[in-house]
Amino acid sequence: MDVTRTIVSIMGLEDKETKDNSPKANMRKIMRIFAKTPVALAAFYRSRKGKKIIPPKKNLSFSENFFHMCFGKVPNKDIVKAFDVSLILYAEHSFNVSTFTARTITSSLSDVHGAITGAIASLKGPLHGGANEEVMHMMNKIKKPENALKWINKTLDNKDVVMGFGHRVYKSGDSRVPTMREYFGKVAKIKKDKKFEKIYDIVEKVMIERKNIHPNVDYPTGPTYHLMGFDTDFFTPIFVLSRITGWSAHIMEQYAANKLIRPLSKYSGAKHRRVIRLNQR
Ligand code: COA
Repeated sequence: MDVTRTIVSIMGLEDKETKDNSPKANMRKIMRIFAKTPVALAAFYRSRKGKKIIPPKKNLSFSENFFHMCFGKVPNKDIVKAFDVSLILYAEHSFNVSTFTARTITSSLSDVHGAITGAIASLKGPLHGGANEEVMHMMNKIKKPENALKWINKTLDNKDVVMGFGHRVYKSGDSRVPTMREYFGKVAKIKKDKKFEKIYDIVEKVMIERKNIHPNVDYPTGPTYHLMGFDTDFFTPIFVLSRITGWSAHIMEQYAANKLIRPLSKYSGAKHRRVIRLNQR
């Protein structure tokens, strides 16, 4: 995510239209960010493994190209479809933390690259987009389905937070989960690896029974991306590739009817404190 954030920030340095905030220039810049970010990310994916960078191909779709640039091959169409579905589910989600960040940055009439860079920093946090990576760390810690029941009960007894569960808005289930769960199952079947699905079901059952807390979309996407072959620290950057579209729509909307976002805070500290003069201390 640090690389992803830096990629967009550097694009802002290089883009000749950075300072032009007209709707047309903004749309051109957004299209460039949307097109270049996956190419730069895939280049990083390969170069850190000492592998040759693979350029995109014109005849491939967005998702096919990302697989091609990361792995040098495009997987079967059902895997590509599952990746597509995850990107569609991730694309836009109203006033979440990162979108609010992008809106707030835009509201000072700053530039598009800055707003998306800030949004990426916000998405990185484990309580937001970073949760899809945390889910995988959790599943790796559990290791096998036989350990799952004991692990989740102990975690809840300790009052620890279970990543990939809960949502500020959805209190009785995230509407994106059933679709992503279905595609997670399809990918697990193709890869002939049911281990994560079994862990998934056990942890989910206990979370609902004991806490009435349902999974959010990061719960099924984490193990799905793992089964597709991506390194865990690429899960949230993949989220970025998709959410650039949602952030951009909000940024355009904010520019079109801007009002500076400036909340007030409610003071809850000490009522009155006497200041002692320096020579009396
Ligand atoms: N695991 C364990 N307990 C959880 C939980 C989780 N994932 N999410 C919420 N809870 C518990 C809280 O501890 C709290 O318990 P309490 O009343 O005994 O103190 C209760 O449920 C209410 O939670 P609250 O903190 O008010 O929910 P919130 O709306 O502030 O939090 C999240 C929403 C997303 C920040 C929170 O659910 C969370 O941290 N989830 C894990 C991270 C994650 O998956 N983020 C991706 C979101 S799409």
